[in-house]
Amino acid sequence: MKRSLIILTSLLTITVHAQTTHDWENPAVLGINKLPYHATLQLPSKEKECQEIVSLDGQWLFHWSPKPEDRPVDFYKEDYDVSGWDRIAVPGNWQTQGYGTPIYININYPFVRNRPSVTTEPPKDWTAYENRNPVGSYVTFVDVTKEMLSKNLILHFGGVHSAFYLWVNGQRVGYSQNSMSPAEFDVTKYMRAGKNKVAVEVYRWSDGSYLEDQDMWRLSGIFRSVQLWVRPLVHIADYHVTAIPNDDYSKFTVNAKITVCNTGKKTAKNLLVQIQMACPELYGVNINPHHRNITNHRIAKLRAADTVTVELTYHYDAPPRLWTAEKPWLYPFTVQLLGMKDSKNDEEFAYHFGVKRVECVGEVFKINGKNVKLRGVNRHDHHPRTGRYVDDATYEKDIALMKQANINFLRTSHYPDREYLYELCDRWGIYVMDEANQETHGYGYANHEMGEDPAWKDAHVDRAESLVKRDYNHPCVILWSLGNEGGVGPNLQAMYDTVVALDSTRLPFYDCHPRYSALHDFGYPTPDVLKAEAEKETEKPLIAREYAHAMGNSMGNFQEYWDVIYADSSIAGAAIWDWVDQGLSLPLTPSNWRGNPAAEKASPSGGRLEGAFLYGGDFGDQPNDGNFCINGLLAPDRQPHPHYYEVQYVYQPITFKRDDDGTIRIINRDSFTAPSEYDITYDTLRYGSETLLNVTARLREDKPWAEKGFVVAREQFVLQPYEYPQPKSLSAPLSKTPLSSGRGVGGEAVTINGNTLTSWIVDGREVLQGPLEPYFWKPENDNQRAAGFARRVAEWKEVKDVTVNYTIIDDRTILVEMDYQPTADDRSIIPKVGMRMRLPASYTQIRYYGRGPWENYPDRKRSAFLGIYEMPLSEYETEYIRPQDNGNRCDIRWFEIASATGRTLRIEGLQPLCVRAWDYGEEDLDAAPRHAQDLQRGRFVNLNIDLNIHGVGGVDTWGQRTLPQYTIDGNRPYHYAFILCL
Ligand code: GAL
Ligand code: MG
Repeated sequence: MKRSLIILTSLLTITVHAQTTHDWENPAVLGINKLPYHATLQLPSKEKECQEIVSLDGQWLFHWSPKPEDRPVDFYKEDYDVSGWDRIAVPGNWQTQGYGTPIYININYPFVRNRPSVTTEPPKDWTAYENRNPVGSYVTFVDVTKEMLSKNLILHFGGVHSAFYLWVNGQRVGYSQNSMSPAEFDVTKYMRAGKNKVAVEVYRWSDGSYLEDQDMWRLSGIFRSVQLWVRPLVHIADYHVTAIPNDDYSKFTVNAKITVCNTGKKTAKNLLVQIQMACPELYGVNINPHHRNITNHRIAKLRAADTVTVELTYHYDAPPRLWTAEKPWLYPFTVQLLGMKDSKNDEEFAYHFGVKRVECVGEVFKINGKNVKLRGVNRHDHHPRTGRYVDDATYEKDIALMKQANINFLRTSHYPDREYLYELCDRWGIYVMDEANQETHGYGYANHEMGEDPAWKDAHVDRAESLVKRDYNHPCVILWSLGNEGGVGPNLQAMYDTVVALDSTRLPFYDCHPRYSALHDFGYPTPDVLKAEAEKETEKPLIAREYAHAMGNSMGNFQEYWDVIYADSSIAGAAIWDWVDQGLSLPLTPSNWRGNPAAEKASPSGGRLEGAFLYGGDFGDQPNDGNFCINGLLAPDRQPHPHYYEVQYVYQPITFKRDDDGTIRIINRDSFTAPSEYDITYDTLRYGSETLLNVTARLREDKPWAEKGFVVAREQFVLQPYEYPQPKSLSAPLSKTPLSSGRGVGGEAVTINGNTLTSWIVDGREVLQGPLEPYFWKPENDNQRAAGFARRVAEWKEVKDVTVNYTIIDDRTILVEMDYQPTADDRSIIPKVGMRMRLPASYTQIRYYGRGPWENYPDRKRSAFLGIYEMPLSEYETEYIRPQDNGNRCDIRWFEIASATGRTLRIEGLQPLCVRAWDYGEEDLDAAPRHAQDLQRGRFVNLNIDLNIHGVGGVDTWGQRTLPQYTIDGNRPYHYAFILCL
């Protein structure tokens, strides 16, 4: 028995050596001397108060090498002189600080796919050709006192991309990969009193990168905090707390498994492990919390180098206050290890638990027994300046903006985020699908290569284990995801088994095969397909872990999704792709291209883009996927895009309906909140002949994410419809005959050429900078570009079968009537039906009565209520990061645009109008500029006055078209009219 074991061991060693000599190109080496993964011990918000933590964040010494052979091999040695090195911020990515090239790529690997090698020669134009595998060498110095030395010293790295070696005082400590999870090393024996040299060598790519093929900027370095933990020799190594209600929610049980280890040389005696609840609400006021809320366990003896796990269980005979995203009730507690004799070695960590149950009952997904709907979003950990490092304030802004948008579900696509994010979700209330850092998309969706290769099994399991073990104590987590767009096969089965064995209180999820998932996933369905899939699938609840691709000007038909989701109890919910545009706004100095000077020339935008949000290709990164990373509800600086507000509206927890008899009905979309908990009020608004009723539900009290009075739900009803002017009611006599020209009393004149108004002189001055003419073309947005829109509807670059009548009503008033009568029956859909004109650039102030204030289109206008809005042209436009069609407002009754010189052009619809106004033209957008900075603005004001416009689309950005009900049939006649008045 023993002999065969020895043989096996040596065989293994041989195999490993035959494969490669680098740890970072060897999937069998996941770490060297790493401590076991464990839960976040201290609530992140309280880390600063934690006596055991010394932060090593700050400026470190840094050297960057384009490939491993160029690295300063001996830099970790004590006598190696690093005094001349640059300084770099830790935490941070090196590419965002001027070293090497950020690469944005979606599915393919940024290096040649040839596992486990990451250094196979790529084509010459790839970034990875010159920069075969950049290495960042980091050095910092840490002062350690004698007293600290008597303790157990642990170096904690929150996240390092993608693999690194660690040395202390010239001695090699260990190695780690799995970049989005913490790595810890016991450095006690390497440290000494006084100054200590900490050296870290980071490789941009490693075999671990094969599992980190997420669609994102590929960035490197020590991007999360580094801490030195100074711990008692006997300390709490880990603790997992579970809090679940009984079947009828009348009682609950809290279970804590606390692991204590002895890192000292002597046996420890008489230890006390205890949990103390700081929450009198557990029992009510009559019971002394100090007495009843402590449970403990004595450890008589713990030998040197031993570890013991103690289990404490509490049964509470009272109904719990449950944790839900709607009412995130938390029970604070402290976990303590008391050394009895020597209180200076006592340990105490503060945390909280929430009581909840997550389950699938047949095909219904439930939280605390209710068929909760997950109104979700996906989010990458992204910051425009610091890349993969996102600071606390940005986290708070993100979660506040999510709560304000009525989002209750967050998928941490596609890896674990920094710990503080989960604490915010615990406190403010967001259900979280916590995702393992596993994506092998470069081998294909649901691939067998990575899913089945036994050499990669441990690497997969490592990522599941690190996920669950770190975040176990966060009540917000409801689902553990095995990753995204990875393999299928035994390696995934092993991940699944690991997750299920570690935690039975949350559910496992995987997108690539339902075998590894409690929920069935269907990504990017149309609303109809979502409905059909949910009907087809009868075993499990259905979720769309990604849908509503929010790239550019998008998010059409969002309500249609939720009509389907609310109507079918087997649909758990869906998560938008995605939260924030992943644009970078780095200063464009040559240092961005350090190590790849050729890229500066290759960069199509050159150096003109100071302040722009940059995307794939802007750094000369090759290969790249362009602007496919710009898919957010928010811009990179967290400014909401117009479609953010549509999400806020469609996701609202209350829906208002008005019956024919005028009764307003309230439909509650939440599960744990009654509508009566909000202040519901209404306003009657009168705009001319039109009467509107606005109903709103507001917060009754301050929340951490919004103040009292914040509107969580709203609706608008038309009580008395608008009376559009009718030609017969116009005061002046009408002439139906098209005029070729006419002249008024004060030198006013109009010149008409066929269907075109070529000149309109009022007060001796020309109003038009470009003619008013029938115009059916509109530039593409990202969805349309991906769906071949311009090619399909190219025939509309020329208008056909149109007649325009101009009627001069008085000196300053013209009635314009347009007729489209198709003379064929094979016309493609029409981009827009309407007219265009150009005004002098001085017309920059807009006031209108219609839907707003933000941009809206026929398939995305529910959140934009009717009202009178006023704004400068620059706000009427939406500046998308990649310029594209934008700025429409629907259901316009009248529209005014005023010039700096005091002239106002007023447009009155004889029916609702769609109006777009820009300070550039269609031709500028059709030239496909990469950035708003490339647009030539200010030559004129381009005004489109339309009966209707093609919807923006809202399914995906790889071929799906705008839903048919939001397109314009080219084979039907159209008629519309408006009055121009100056
Ligand atoms: C999904 C993928 C995301 C992202 C998205 C497109 O299929 O999971 O990571 O690539 O497509 O933007
Ligand atoms: Mg992918």
